[in-house]
Amino acid sequence: MDKNWLSRIGFAVNLGSITLILCATALHAQKDPADPGQPVEMSAQEDHARMMRLLGIEALRPGANPNDPTAPNAVNYDESKATIYPSLPDPLLTQDRKRVTTAEDWWDQRRPEIIELFDREIYGRVPDSTPPVEWRLESSANETEGGVPVRKKELRGRVDNSDYPAVSVEIELTLVTPAEVERPVPVMMEFGFNWGGRFRGRPPWEGEGPTWKELVLAQGWGYAVLIPTSVQADNGAGLTRGIIGLANRGQPRKPDDWGALRAWAWGASRALDYFELDDAVDAKRVGIEGLSRYGKAAAVAMAYDQRFAVGFIASSGASGLKLHRRDLGERVENVASPAEYHWMAGNFLKYAGPLTWDDLPVDSHELVSLCAPRPVFISVGSPDVEGQWIDARGMFLAGAAAEPVYELLGRKGLGTSEFPLIETALTGGEIAFRQHRGGHTAGPNWPTFIKWASHYLK
Ligand code: GCU
Repeated sequence: MDKNWLSRIGFAVNLGSITLILCATALHAQKDPADPGQPVEMSAQEDHARMMRLLGIEALRPGANPNDPTAPNAVNYDESKATIYPSLPDPLLTQDRKRVTTAEDWWDQRRPEIIELFDREIYGRVPDSTPPVEWRLESSANETEGGVPVRKKELRGRVDNSDYPAVSVEIELTLVTPAEVERPVPVMMEFGFNWGGRFRGRPPWEGEGPTWKELVLAQGWGYAVLIPTSVQADNGAGLTRGIIGLANRGQPRKPDDWGALRAWAWGASRALDYFELDDAVDAKRVGIEGLSRYGKAAAVAMAYDQRFAVGFIASSGASGLKLHRRDLGERVENVASPAEYHWMAGNFLKYAGPLTWDDLPVDSHELVSLCAPRPVFISVGSPDVEGQWIDARGMFLAGAAAEPVYELLGRKGLGTSEFPLIETALTGGEIAFRQHRGGHTAGPNWPTFIKWASHYLK
């Protein structure tokens, strides 16, 4: 046989298979425009650096260092050095510097302005349309809790992900109501830490005596626990997943997109949607409670969703109810770091460099004012037990500075700008404050809270 001919066939076969491989590769690589693919994978550090680039920021100031008192950025716990920026934005002065003197101007102009600023610069915007949630009853049982016969429902809220099946979100919610009460009852909902079943029964720090759940049931109310991390992970790497990632179809955030605090608060609002349909609950008398990072989320939920009747905001600290403009304990810079920035809008990073806290267009007293005229209880523990990282006075001052808005709407605030002694309850108005003797917990303030709140939830 002609050797040349053979090698020509071989050459053609080779060419053919290369073409085949090339075609197959091209087909594989050509993305179906209808398939947005998997969520972008990034560590918190990578996403944080990406956000800094987007904002044109080269460096952020370091946060307060609680571990080394000799460090240049050592945390400050000295009250005489805390007030660096004494003047706060005026909640009753519009952006075009008009004084708000009527409830109408508050509702129509000033409140929407404040919301826009919190949306854009602090907590981020919830997308215009988030996918709907379908609630299903996973299980229901009759039990006894603290001697009260109760009905316990395990609920799951599945977020419609037909638009982006690569991310699924299922909200975990437990609802417990007194079984023998015929009419709909008030419910206190807590943002619950998920201990992964580690503490059956009572977590060790809750101490002796009835739990908050038993106290609430004894009052004839129900309680609910929502697991925030079932809505959105508590870290920056998770921002392309959870409800934020689902709404963004797996892409990273824009500078004014929502952070985890608003996502958790969004979850609480969806739970409230469910309560509106459950005959056991009086959805007009649902309160929201949370501690620490979940205290921040409870404040955000209360501020934004006017259906929440009362808020119990425990030890919420920085980016919760503590004034951003105070240097005591945690600083804006700590919250803007890769460990915590995911709670906030990307834009918040700007105030940790090059801008300062004083450039913030709103401060936390205005978050309290967004709750007006609804009642808010500000809770904190003892500085000797809890420490001062969360800045008790900073939260008290935010409450005090929100008073003019409550008064404009015909309600009472704290009634004093003098920081009270420990265990002195300021509960004469719709802004309440109490420092209990315990540590980083809402626990010891529950009886005072319930007594005060029963006035509103009765
Ligand atoms: C850290 C953080 C606080 C937060 C707390 C918590 O201490 O700095 O801002 O409130 O964790 O959630 O337990």
